[in-house]
Amino acid sequence: MTGPGQAATAGPGDDREVTLLPGPVLDLGTEVVAVGLGQGAAPAGAAEALDRRAGGVLGRWVAAGRFRGEAGETLFVPAGNGTPHLLAVGLGKEADRRAESVRRLAGVTIREARHRRLESAAVVLPGGLHDPLEECVRAAAEGLVLGDWSFDELRGAERREKLPPRPERAAVHVPGDTSGKVDDLARAVREGRAVAAAQNWARGLVARPGNVATPTFLATRAREMADAYGLQADVWGPDKLREEGFGGLLAVSRGSAEQPRFIILQHRGAEGAPFVLVGKGVTFDAGGISLKPSSGMEDMKFDMGGGAAVLGAMRAAAELGLPARIVGLVPSTENLPSGSALKPADVIRGVSGISIEVVNTDAEGRLILSDALAYGSRLEPRAMVDLATLTGGCVVALGYHASGLMTDDDGLAAELDEAGRRSGERVWRLPLWEEYRKQMDSDIADIKNSAGRDASPLTAGCFLKEFVADGVPWAHLDIAGTAWAKEARPYQPEGATGVGVRLLIDWLRRAARP
Ligand code: BES
Ligand code: MN
Ligand code: ZN
Repeated sequence: MTGPGQAATAGPGDDREVTLLPGPVLDLGTEVVAVGLGQGAAPAGAAEALDRRAGGVLGRWVAAGRFRGEAGETLFVPAGNGTPHLLAVGLGKEADRRAESVRRLAGVTIREARHRRLESAAVVLPGGLHDPLEECVRAAAEGLVLGDWSFDELRGAERREKLPPRPERAAVHVPGDTSGKVDDLARAVREGRAVAAAQNWARGLVARPGNVATPTFLATRAREMADAYGLQADVWGPDKLREEGFGGLLAVSRGSAEQPRFIILQHRGAEGAPFVLVGKGVTFDAGGISLKPSSGMEDMKFDMGGGAAVLGAMRAAAELGLPARIVGLVPSTENLPSGSALKPADVIRGVSGISIEVVNTDAEGRLILSDALAYGSRLEPRAMVDLATLTGGCVVALGYHASGLMTDDDGLAAELDEAGRRSGERVWRLPLWEEYRKQMDSDIADIKNSAGRDASPLTAGCFLKEFVADGVPWAHLDIAGTAWAKEARPYQPEGATGVGVRLLIDWLRRAARP
């Protein structure tokens, strides 16, 4: 069950087979079967049946208080005579039992399976879930594809061979009578698998360093992916960008020997006004002439995380066949210092015609986004959402557990908030008040590109807003704190997260309903 053109587009290990396994639970045929157990709960139902056949170890450990069911806790019971390995995973408190708990359970399961060099794993859906069954099944499939991902492309053959291979097969089992629901549940598995595979692909783009993932490289991968998944693709280089007046993108790229690219992808799942997705694609951000300190600068290879999320979401939207017109826009460049680089105090003009005083060349993301947002506005979108690793201030404010959401549209805010909760990619709203816009007043031009550190995510949001045409429902997501995981989480290995792919698809799945 693989996506179209997978060989050409999904690097080894982005995807895997995931199936819905019908009962009986004692006969699933995978090497390990995983069950979730709530805090303080004894094995019941399918878990009890599996445990009883395996000799009752799990029940005894629970009774002895050695397995407490705390979120993320695991107990591995090795295979017996003709029985598979049994993996118990703690689900935590009853009240928290949502689709997200299943995503975590599945992520822990597949990572454990890989770690133990197993070829196949099944997750038994726990009972007592507070979200609809289909949503939980989709989350299980997502966790089973996301949880054991790793980026090994740049390691030598010898090192790669020593790594445990990713399990080949994964499955979701729903206990009880599912007759009449099997088609819907199987579709949920396929959808979850597709979205997660697209997210892994996006993670791979983010993980690649700046010398590999240049703007040209991103555009080439986007085009290959578009061909494989049936998306329309256009890629603009410097000449076309000059013709179209992309003064922001061209200004930032002047410091770099790499050419800029503007990637335009289109999914035509319906006619009419499009949803427009915009992603910041800075493949390396050294700060330009306003050079960043060298300590930690290497982290700035992730500065195309918004662009990667948009490309991943476009791939998933195509594979799911979402019934809407969706356009993805990714302005891409490096931000480096050189003799030809943009300088502090330079005044530039882009697609919108608004003059911008560049007081800090390190506030480059908003310069390239200003062109993309002005261009996107011309498509008269039903809604436009941009994603960008835009400000260090957003990391200070929200840390690593929520993206900053800025919008004047309460309806769109509510939709994205819901999508964030459902997908496990949470957002938290920050204001775009007029006072923050005033901080961006320039003495010489229409607006300046930085007002310093105070409220920097918000002043950045106000800057972007200037370039969105009146009447376009628009939201900005600052993913500076969420695009990279400093430590592993249940379905998130350390490193690139691909954040935004699940969030955007969950939002579009509902918003796109005709
Ligand atoms: N890509 C950075 C944002 C960033 C910084 C993300 C640190 C994660 C960690 C962005 O281009 C940037 O440099 N922003 C500046 C803006 C400032 C000059 C107004 C920042 O946040 O320091
Ligand atoms: Mn910067
Ligand atoms: Zn940047």
